[in-house]
Amino acid sequence: MTSTSPPTDRLAPWSFAEFVDANGHEMVTRPPVIDGVVGPTIVRDGRELVNFASINFLDLGQRLSLTREFTDAAHTYGLTTGGSRMTQGVCRPHQVLEESIARQTGKERALTFATGLLANIGFVHAMSHSARFDDALQVHNRDTVFVLDRDSHWSLWKAVEGLEYGRSVHAFRHNDVADLARVLGRVRSRKVVVIIESVYSADGSMAPVIDLLDECDRHGAISMVDDANGFMLYGPSHRPFAAEYAAIRERADFVMVSLSKAVGLEGGALAGPAHAIDAFEVLSGTSMFTAAMQPPTAHVAGRTIEALANDPSIVDDYLARADRLRAGMHEMGMPTTPAASYMLSVPIGDDDAAMTMREWFVKDGYLVPVFCYPAVPRNQALLRLIPHAGHTEEQVDGFLHTLASYRRRLGL
Ligand SMILES: Cc1ncc(COP(=O)(O)O)c(C=O)c1O
Repeated sequence: MTSTSPPTDRLAPWSFAEFVDANGHEMVTRPPVIDGVVGPTIVRDGRELVNFASINFLDLGQRLSLTREFTDAAHTYGLTTGGSRMTQGVCRPHQVLEESIARQTGKERALTFATGLLANIGFVHAMSHSARFDDALQVHNRDTVFVLDRDSHWSLWKAVEGLEYGRSVHAFRHNDVADLARVLGRVRSRKVVVIIESVYSADGSMAPVIDLLDECDRHGAISMVDDANGFMLYGPSHRPFAAEYAAIRERADFVMVSLSKAVGLEGGALAGPAHAIDAFEVLSGTSMFTAAMQPPTAHVAGRTIEALANDPSIVDDYLARADRLRAGMHEMGMPTTPAASYMLSVPIGDDDAAMTMREWFVKDGYLVPVFCYPAVPRNQALLRLIPHAGHTEEQVDGFLHTLASYRRRLGL
């Protein structure tokens, strides 16, 4: 068979070959192949590992018989929307899901997207672009200024990438209310949008939402909270961060949610005032010009959200499990970042030590995500653990003892 690839030297100016060679970590460019269902354990290249990396951590697919729901929905609604909602209309499962997300976030309306990343990009686009269809139908929003937490997710930075930094985009120090106030005090525009996250995935911290929203009010800024990591986990009054979530519900103008975390599927949504979300159908671009969530996924997402709302014990048990893991680490003298969310970050520091640890973990049967530069500043590497609802006590104990032994070996 003859190769159909173009000669690689034509790609030389892009330096991909050098990049891959210099990368050193095979895993990054040729990821291992996974077989079977990803859960508390994962089979990669034929080897089973205890999995601390899954963002589908509630394991609801197993617990709520969602696979059956999914196949039933595929029969009822088909595998694909088959076209955009502008040309055909909105599929029933999407409409039901959007109503459910609006209820859960306390907003008037919600609009779904194929992923949370597309929701973020669509939000920024809708808030900052101009469009003129005819004399009556037009918007002019190029004068919008965005102010973001410096540690915002890649999707948010990608969303503002085409806007001029220093004029249309400003950043404030991570979770720093005084710095937000300083930045807002200098911005001169009638249209200012402050974008924050709720739970930040790198350090597991919860934003000081109430104070940040106070600053937005003080300066007349619109607020958008990316709740990818907290949606359906926090909010009820008996759980952590109840006051912050009440503020998000009652005072944030817009909320973005991802369906790939607690809901355990794929998709995203924006929720907010009905007239703005109605306009986003057209103005976000990422609703109209790309694929939507598949109907069975939208259907199961709606069912999952209702199940989580109706049976608080699912999330309560999970959060208690995360607390036990944190307490177990502290009892063994191992520090975690101070945040009280379900995401546990273990500071390692030295990037090389962290990469060594990752290799040792895999050799000993554990998959543990390591965040090194550029995900975090250089030599501030950390292990970012997501406890899984299906982990057994033996798996967790085994992990804790393994981590303790590595720390001793590396003199940490
Ligand atoms: C804070 C934040 N925003 C947005 C996203 C993107 O969401 P999705 O995976 O649904 O595209 C993520 C995913 O990791 C996230 O953590």
